[in-house]
Amino acid sequence: MNRLILTSVMLMLICCPLQAQKKLFDETEEQKKERMAWWTHDRFGMFIHWGLYAMPARHEWIKTRERISEKEYRKYFELYNPDLFKPREWAKMAKKAGMKYAVITTKHHEGFCMFDSKVTDYKVTNTPYEKDIIKAWVEAFRAEGLKIGFYYSLIDWHHPQYTVDRIHPLRPSSDEEYLELNKDRDMNVYREYLYNQVREILTQYGKVDILWLDYSFPGKHGKARDDWNSVELLKMVRKLQPGIIVNDRMDLKDYEDGWDFTTPEQFKVPAWPEVNGKKIPWETCQTFSGSWGYYRDEHTWKDTKQLLVLLIESVSKGGNLLLNVGPTGRGTFDNRAQKALKSMGHWMKFNNRSIYGCTQAPEEFNVPDHCLLTFNPETNRLYIHLLDYPLKNFTLHGYNDKVKYAQFLHDASEIRITAPRGAWMKQELSQNDINLLLPVTKPEIEIPVIELILE
Ligand code: GLC
Repeated sequence: MNRLILTSVMLMLICCPLQAQKKLFDETEEQKKERMAWWTHDRFGMFIHWGLYAMPARHEWIKTRERISEKEYRKYFELYNPDLFKPREWAKMAKKAGMKYAVITTKHHEGFCMFDSKVTDYKVTNTPYEKDIIKAWVEAFRAEGLKIGFYYSLIDWHHPQYTVDRIHPLRPSSDEEYLELNKDRDMNVYREYLYNQVREILTQYGKVDILWLDYSFPGKHGKARDDWNSVELLKMVRKLQPGIIVNDRMDLKDYEDGWDFTTPEQFKVPAWPEVNGKKIPWETCQTFSGSWGYYRDEHTWKDTKQLLVLLIESVSKGGNLLLNVGPTGRGTFDNRAQKALKSMGHWMKFNNRSIYGCTQAPEEFNVPDHCLLTFNPETNRLYIHLLDYPLKNFTLHGYNDKVKYAQFLHDASEIRITAPRGAWMKQELSQNDINLLLPVTKPEIEIPVIELILE
């Protein structure tokens, strides 16, 4: 018998080796959970992509997409003056939309710094605007009770020592040309600059809740962990801000603790992402339209229902949503963004109980057609989001003996648990099913939510 067990254990190890994950720090799983507890609870944040690219207003990658020279791009720097920038108003809009944290670009790939860095002249305080945007932004968002995060681009299309790679504005077509272009560029110098700047943003602005580093692209003429010296970088980050939460784009995926959460960008995950069979923290980042930076002529804006589904579906799979606004060159949120935030805020005002503190529902609860479920383990309440409003009888298969009380979330009006109507319905129902009697008229709410108080 013992031999049998031993053989099967050995077989298991050969067939499905547990990928032993390397570790950098000695934090336990429990401690990590605790460090991330606020983030897991809050679920909904605002991403802000703002830089010089707001002025051409045609995508934050414009410098490389259109292969704009340094000299040409300079005009935006010389004119940058967001005179209508009122960060307190931004923070109020984020808060009203139901967002609990916000992450802003301190530097994007273009290399322009929105903060008063000591190690470059290419910064906001040298533009006509003169003031440190990050400083004012941090103060305003904190004052409104939001947690704050910094996006910092590892990539830099301005720094003269940053080597030309396959996404750089100067990218050539042959290997020889790469060699030629890079012969006087030294990534050691750039790396030091990068370290200095990350140190600056993590020491000049008080407590920073999130750091969003972007991004690695290994392979030919790409950049990865050795270019950033990611291990040392992360060690420095954790030392400067022990409580900080860091994303997963510095190419340290094979370290168990080389990242805190994963970041599916602009797509919906089919299920809660896992590593080695374990569900991991995740946050999807999404735009209102097809660009992160302000894009005047982009018209593929998602409607309110799509945005709400993004949020609800993320929570229903145990994840967060970081929804992006690209402010204009004057420093305002354009009308389309304001409208979207307002309509989400209206829904959140009445339904946020199905979002904050919620997660994927236990498997024992069947998901009815056209619905998304979320669950609050603290309060033991289950939320059914009705994406397509049903007609009167709403059957919950296998829910018998599990539900104490049912109500609409937005107005706390009781939903009666009834016997099914009509003989043919009776046949369809088993003893394990229950039926909810819904009003025929859909409540005036984009996606109505049923709150089930469970036994
Ligand atoms: C991508 C893009 C970038 C954007 C980011 C947001 O990596 O390069 O423009 O900032 O995703 O997730």
